[in-house]
Amino acid sequence: MEKPILNVLQGKKPVHVPIWLMRQAGRYLPEYRDLRAKAKNFLNMCLTPDWATEITLQPIRRFGFDAAILFADILLVPMALGAGLDFREGEGPVLEYIDNQKRIDQLSYDNSKLLAVYETLARVKKELPDNTTLIGFCGAPWTVACYMIDGNSKGGFATSRRWVAEKSPLLDNLIRTLVDASELYLIQQIESGAEVLQIFDSWGGLLQGADFDRYVIQPTADLIRRIKKKYPHVPIIGFPREALPEDYKLYAMQTDIDAMSIDFNLSLDFAKNTLQPVKTLQGNLSPDLLVEGGANMLKAAEKILTTFGPQHIFNLGHGVVPQTPPEHVGELVKFVQGFKF
Ligand code: CP3
Repeated sequence: MEKPILNVLQGKKPVHVPIWLMRQAGRYLPEYRDLRAKAKNFLNMCLTPDWATEITLQPIRRFGFDAAILFADILLVPMALGAGLDFREGEGPVLEYIDNQKRIDQLSYDNSKLLAVYETLARVKKELPDNTTLIGFCGAPWTVACYMIDGNSKGGFATSRRWVAEKSPLLDNLIRTLVDASELYLIQQIESGAEVLQIFDSWGGLLQGADFDRYVIQPTADLIRRIKKKYPHVPIIGFPREALPEDYKLYAMQTDIDAMSIDFNLSLDFAKNTLQPVKTLQGNLSPDLLVEGGANMLKAAEKILTTFGPQHIFNLGHGVVPQTPPEHVGELVKFVQGFKF
């Protein structure tokens, strides 16, 4: 059976515009909150295939999205490298500070810490409907490095930014370590059933120009090159969130990415006229409009659909937020999948 997301990524006409949403599994769903209460700890939930499989499938059963995204987190790679990771209630992730060369030297990727993730992919793959695509992912080296260096996002990644300003060799070393680990992680995700990969660079927009090139574009291009060498036909989607428009363009042109996810600040005109001729796009409805729902949400969705046409993957400009009413998601999926041009 045809998979609309793969069709779009391969340049074929899909039966309908495909839709999936970043954070489509999460706290806005009562069935997620039930399991989360049982599992107690978020990391446990990611690393227990029974739970992670169930959570990955919850939004597919409820809404019939065109893709399932593996339920995991970008911070599992630092964990597998030996950096202390904790998800605290009401506070989000906290990592040990990796802020000196000695700690960077001690990092060593232990793939066996991630076997549960691969098992989850294999199980989800078996259970997915024939027309649903399975997406694997990792964080981009820059974004993951930010969390490792600063421990959390509260201070605006001040130390990471200082390392950028100083062109610290520590940052280059850490990024190299992350490219190496992410390569192994993504390759095994493909071998476990992932059909598409997404690289989340949530903090790419902290950098501009030459810094964006050095820490976002180059490591991402390197990672993609290595994966494509082994698996040239597995499409990869990049998400350099909140990058400047001109940096989005350079990212599109200088990495071998297959598609680009765009955040909701990027103008539709720029995306259509400058980016879409270069790459397939994904995005970019505001998560706030999904909270609001109703006519405003549908009007904005229609604008995105008519701007980009059928060769587009519908998504948000960032993740679904916990206060989103699930009915709005159902309404949006029906609208997008039923849209006729
Ligand atoms: O998109 C999906 O549904 C798949 C699963 C997924 C999660 N995190 C689950 C999650 C994915 C793809 C991610 C990626 C991720 N994780 C990113 C990149 C995308 C983005 O949002 O910018 C980042 C920066 C992280 C790190 C992270 N994980 C943060 C900052 C937080 C706390 C903020 C929050 O929303 O609570 C998490 C926790 C997290 N990851 C949750 C989920 C469902 C919430 C956990 C809970 O139930 O308490």
